Amino acid sequence: MSFNKKTISEYDITNKTVLVRVDYNVPLSDSGEIRDDYRIKQSIPTLNYLIEKNCKLILCAHLGRPSGPGDTKYSLAPVAKHLSQLLGREVVFVNDCVGEAAQNAAKSLQNGQVILLENLRFHPEEADNDEAFSKQLASLAEVFVQDGFGVSHETRASTVGVTHFLPSLAGLLLEKEVDTITSVMENPKKPLTAIVGGAKIADKIDILKRFIDIADALIVAGAMANTFLLAKGIKIGKSLADKDDLQLAKDIMETAAAKATQSQFVFYLPQDCVVAKTKDSNAQTRIVDWSAHIIAEIEAYPKIPTAESAQVADDEEILDIGPFSGAFVSGLSQLSSTVVWNGTLGVTETPALQGPVGPFAHGTELLVGALTGQFGHKPYTLVGGGDTAGYISTLGLVDKFSHVSTGGGASLDLMSGHSLPGVEALLNKDAAGVVQ
Ligand code: 3PG
Repeated sequence: MSFNKKTISEYDITNKTVLVRVDYNVPLSDSGEIRDDYRIKQSIPTLNYLIEKNCKLILCAHLGRPSGPGDTKYSLAPVAKHLSQLLGREVVFVNDCVGEAAQNAAKSLQNGQVILLENLRFHPEEADNDEAFSKQLASLAEVFVQDGFGVSHETRASTVGVTHFLPSLAGLLLEKEVDTITSVMENPKKPLTAIVGGAKIADKIDILKRFIDIADALIVAGAMANTFLLAKGIKIGKSLADKDDLQLAKDIMETAAAKATQSQFVFYLPQDCVVAKTKDSNAQTRIVDWSAHIIAEIEAYPKIPTAESAQVADDEEILDIGPFSGAFVSGLSQLSSTVVWNGTLGVTETPALQGPVGPFAHGTELLVGALTGQFGHKPYTLVGGGDTAGYISTLGLVDKFSHVSTGGGASLDLMSGHSLPGVEALLNKDAAGVVQ
């Protein structure tokens, strides 16, 4: 199904004062440096389009989960500075998103000028989708544009509330994200391999079921695989796992096994892993291969490998996929036309500790090589999920993938087949040009 919401290019937007919701929820270092500006960069085409149309731009966004307005480490001020560099024009930062400061700044805007309002979440009314707050936001502009795909799965004042008071359109990023993800999920070029990592099964249950439905191979990796392994009776030491979700894991494995009896379907759980006693970059690591026994047998030859070599000890945790599993997953991707990837295979998200190429990122690195054509075949690649996109962006490899989504929860929801409230609330394509 193609995108059915009215976009900024299908509306007479010239010279209008436009409130644009963007997702600038980006990682900042302790000193306020932006560690990954992928989301900001992806908003530029919409902003440039509106600037070319001589609009007055009022940008609103959230950052993190602040406890209140005093939580200044969540100020969007550093983002305004960075955006100004990317746009090559001044971006005035306004220290509140509603009230006098915002009203005055909006009133004094000239055509082609841009302001960024302070963090919406400094007002709890944003999260509550409060009507009066939504009205206040809407009063700043004549038109609302939703381009914050990453937040479009949430019902907030700035995603849904505001659309009750202004003609509301889709930005170019939102359109691209929804169009791309929907068409891959509805009409993928087969064979399709899905790689799903992350921590909690409960958050991913719908996407796992959808992939069992539509994919030719489903690989479960990352911390989530630990729960599946535990459900199979494999010792996982002190690894992260959802002990309450063992039944959920068993159900998924049963559904997958049932599909495999009816069609050529592969459900793959890692067969070996890298373990350590701590996540420290200097921690001593060891490979455990509980199913294939390949490494253990090579190492022990001509003796019989010890039982410990096939078992995670009580004081160890699984921090990466092992070399055998890494090769299997990468090989499978080479036989696929489409790979949808959500969730890194090991611990990659602790840059302060080991960076994106640290000791627990080898499995993910191998997969990235395979997906970007290092071994020859380059499948169509759709990457979703905040951590995975962040990892790729940190490596500077975004351009080597077909589509790297700016959405975490939003891309998961869309892939799972859920509708996004922030998209649903926008004008339909066939709606009249102006709402009275
Ligand atoms: C995200 O980073 O996924 C979005 O910006 C939403 O942020 P939230 O998870 O804090 O609501």
